Amino acid sequence: MSRLDAILAKPKPDPDDLAVLLGADSPAEQARLLDAAYAVKVREVGPVVYFRGLFELSNLCTKDCLYCGIRRSNQKVERYTIPVDEVLTGARWGWEQGYGSVVLQSGERSDPAFVEMIAELVTKIRALSRDQLAITLSMGEQSEETYRTWFQAGAERYLLRIETSDPELYRRLHPADHSWERRRDCLRLLHRIGYQLGSGVMIGLPGQSVAQLARDILFFEQEKVVMIGMGPFIPHAHTPLRDGIRNFAWKRYAQLALALRVIAVTRLYLQDVNIAAATALQTLAPDGREQGLAAGANVIMPNLTDPKYRAAYQLYDGKPCLDESATQCRGCLQARIASLGETIGFGKRGDSKRFLERNIKGADKGETCENRKES
Ligand code: 5AD
Ligand code: FES
Repeated sequence: MSRLDAILAKPKPDPDDLAVLLGADSPAEQARLLDAAYAVKVREVGPVVYFRGLFELSNLCTKDCLYCGIRRSNQKVERYTIPVDEVLTGARWGWEQGYGSVVLQSGERSDPAFVEMIAELVTKIRALSRDQLAITLSMGEQSEETYRTWFQAGAERYLLRIETSDPELYRRLHPADHSWERRRDCLRLLHRIGYQLGSGVMIGLPGQSVAQLARDILFFEQEKVVMIGMGPFIPHAHTPLRDGIRNFAWKRYAQLALALRVIAVTRLYLQDVNIAAATALQTLAPDGREQGLAAGANVIMPNLTDPKYRAAYQLYDGKPCLDESATQCRGCLQARIASLGETIGFGKRGDSKRFLERNIKGADKGETCENRKES
């Protein structure tokens, strides 16, 4: 039996196995790996895809990450913030279409007007959907007070990618005033407050090794991450990390294959978490997100942002669906998901199974997460 097959025959890979699985890059090995991960997904969370309607609220950003197209030093971007009423109209549309959840994402800001605007949006989206829409926020690093304000307004989930679990690699990708430790502490704080915690990394970063990616997966478990959103790194022309761009075209296939293996290995190791098939996968192949589902992901975030704003929210080059309306996005996705033999969990919140089970077990043992809410 090959080393790969011996690992796949275990009920769950051991931590030392992860780098071996991530390196299984021959087409035959990759197919076996993805099939095994798909089987674990179906067993643990079913052949069901949950949709989260994504709103890219604002591209104003105080951060300057070296890879990101909306970093504050990129003066070629026209900055926007979508008015509250427009977001509410979009959220109502999503709710009426049967979306169980929305994600509000924006560049990082922490001024009082912004904090208040997000709290208002959360309160109003909960009210218009009669508390049915679960809300995920993705607004970067914030103070404890801000995280608590938004949680109390009714946001239950928070997505903050650690980008890489390796502090040294993080330092190479960020200016000196960005701190890996501060970001990790934000994740701990979010968990303590009671959010369903989401995080993730970029895959295929310059200088990133398979061993580091294996440690990223262990990091998710250590930090009690129950929703994973990770995608391939894609160079952006107006950032300091544009260097790889000339050669990127021929790297696409390898970059996509690596991202799919990371999804698959995360599913094999963490089993009952939610894993999103990131939009960046679709930049590498038209059916990239569906390939993500076939590798073990179970969440897709259709973009509900009005197309008039989308071109200005380009974190990376070649972002897909820039001019499609939400209705068109929904139609084309639905047909492709049906072709995989999966159904869409319309009308369902799609909470992370790992989160629900941990809370039930915690409650049995008398451990309550502070501020935990019943849902
Ligand atoms: N390629 C891929 N993902 C990127 N992000 C930012 N820039 C890029 C890029 N060039 C991701 C980061 C961030 C998320 C909102 O977008 O992981 O957390
Ligand atoms: Fe940090 Fe955009 S500036 S991810």
